[in-house]
Amino acid sequence: MATTLQLIMLALVGGAFGQANNTDYKLLLSSIVQQLEGGLELHLRSPEDGDLDLVQFLMVQEKSSIKISVKKEEAPTGAEVLRHNFFVFEDAHQMQEILTRLVNTDGFYILALENNTIEDDVILRDFAADVWLQHGHSRIYYVQISQQSVLLYNPFKQSVVVVQDAKTYRRIYKDLEGYHLRIYIFDSVYSSATGDGENKKVLSVSGADANLAKTVARQLNFTAEYLWPDDEFFGGRLPNGEYSGGVGRAHRGEVDIIFAGFFIKDYLTTHIQFSAAVYMDDLCLYVKKAQRIPQSILPLFAVHADVWLCFLLVGLLGTLVWLILRALNLILRIERIPDGARITKTSYFGAARRIFIDTWVVWVRVNVGRFPPFHSERIFVASLCLVSVIFGALLESSLATVYIRPLYYRDANTLRELDESGQPIYIKHPAFKDDLFYGHDSAVYRRLDAKMMLVAEGEERLIEMVSKRGGFAGVTRSASLQLNDIRYVMTKKVHKIPECPKNYHIAYVLPRPSPYLEEVNRIVLRLVAGGIVNLWTGEAKERAKWSIQRFPEYLAQLDVGRWKVLTLSDVQLAFYALFIGCLLAAIVCMAEVLLRRKRATVNKI
Ligand SMILES: *[C@@H]1O[C@H](CO)[C@@H](O)[C@H](O)[C@H]1NC(C)=O
Ligand SMILES: *[C@@H]1O[C@H](CO)[C@@H](O)[C@H](O)[C@H]1NC(C)=O
Ligand SMILES: *[C@@H]1O[C@H](CO)[C@@H](O)[C@H](O)[C@H]1NC(C)=O
Repeated sequence: MATTLQLIMLALVGGAFGQANNTDYKLLLSSIVQQLEGGLELHLRSPEDGDLDLVQFLMVQEKSSIKISVKKEEAPTGAEVLRHNFFVFEDAHQMQEILTRLVNTDGFYILALENNTIEDDVILRDFAADVWLQHGHSRIYYVQISQQSVLLYNPFKQSVVVVQDAKTYRRIYKDLEGYHLRIYIFDSVYSSATGDGENKKVLSVSGADANLAKTVARQLNFTAEYLWPDDEFFGGRLPNGEYSGGVGRAHRGEVDIIFAGFFIKDYLTTHIQFSAAVYMDDLCLYVKKAQRIPQSILPLFAVHADVWLCFLLVGLLGTLVWLILRALNLILRIERIPDGARITKTSYFGAARRIFIDTWVVWVRVNVGRFPPFHSERIFVASLCLVSVIFGALLESSLATVYIRPLYYRDANTLRELDESGQPIYIKHPAFKDDLFYGHDSAVYRRLDAKMMLVAEGEERLIEMVSKRGGFAGVTRSASLQLNDIRYVMTKKVHKIPECPKNYHIAYVLPRPSPYLEEVNRIVLRLVAGGIVNLWTGEAKERAKWSIQRFPEYLAQLDVGRWKVLTLSDVQLAFYALFIGCLLAAIVCMAEVLLRRKRATVNKI
């Protein structure tokens, strides 16, 4: 794989060299100008400069817009549509005066030198090095008109390179030659840093983000200099207009690349930019898991309430159908099946009562004492038997399952249910306030937005408080519940509400402008497309899952890998039913005894 890639690269580079025609530097320059997006501004010293060959040539370029200014001391303004600037100088000495104005913007500078001597080459190199040190960029093409060459500065080799084609600039940033880049990785969802707190030195970094950072470093051949994390990890804009955390560091240009996943959203600064998206994540809410259903009434919850209801209804309906059948049989005077038994005359009411009792007897799968005297009714009873077998099987298997897998009362599964439960939502980052429900027209979202409360996370973490006390909802990234906080989910302490209000792309952060963006993106996108990032994040999740094995107290709560032994407490409901039945029987028995005594005394009188 690697060798194939290298071969392709070689072929590309070789091809580029073959095409390069150093003799005509103007054509080269025009191909460069054509590649630059945004227009070019020609800063001329005097109208006579317009007669220069090169200027004439640039002015007839069709593909790019051109603006010409002839004023001398005019500072290049930052926010302009024309992003690139062209200056012309007599020689390298004169070029020095522009040094302070070559600020780092997205655009390129083209500095043309009319006269050139050998000594000037040294001056030019020092000048380019100064620009790199002072402004931190090397987006300057030096054009030596007399020598017909276009040059670029390679800050990593500290040398001036001759431009072969429009890709030369990018090629410089493909190999940083071991240059030290300030890399920032802190403890986040997919990254962690361990270090020496006394000397404030990061010793090692790990996690998916760190793996990716190391791969980028290897590919671009730079040395990562990890910055010591501050307390505000992600950070953001403070009320006083300053920026804290990682956002602040990128905003002030104190870091080259932050390899920690940031949500791609507005951080209220234009001085940072995002790399290509690396993965996605949800912002989710979690609440305390509902109580376990106690063993004593567990069988009642074995099946849904509608199954119980159906059971009752079919019992009643069966009675009704049987009664109708009996009525039809009697009205149509259908012959009874002789079964040897003496036909006793019973009242209609007595027959109906008999039918009611028999239906329930069949329905709970007990033998009927006497089969009904009509064919149609016997067929009906047989079909009722079949249905009751199916129902019984369903009930029995469900009962067996609830004993093995513990059941919980219903959890809130949608945001509407959370809203109805009336729990407040505690948040620890002020940014969640603008992220979660803000600016949505749904009434549920508006009510939930009003319920959010910013709390300081003290000794006890928010999720710990939710798991112990409950009574409020917390907000977190979905991945956190699969990684660091997985034990709360696995031991059923907290419940993640499956309906998550926000979904974000996650990317790394660089200052803006940054010369490294394109090459970092190239490698990041390749790793994402190849599924390597998925592999790393998936591995992190698997590791989190088995890390639970280190905590025996969690394992004990999990009931995993253990056979469920049924105990007396599991069948207590049956005994309760028996007890209630006995009680009822005793009451009825006593009532009968009392009634007979009363009747006897009445008879005596
Ligand atoms: C380079 O350009 C010159 C003139 O512009 C031309 O004569 C020559 O053939 C070119 N060489 C190549 C390799 O294209
Ligand atoms: C360039 O240098 C030559 C001498 O090397 C000088 O005669 C000429 O005037 C210089 N051109 C400009 C524009 O300064
Ligand atoms: C990486 O940089 C080192 C200098 O630190 C250099 O010697 C080496 O050739 C570079 N590796 C590649 C593959 O370019």
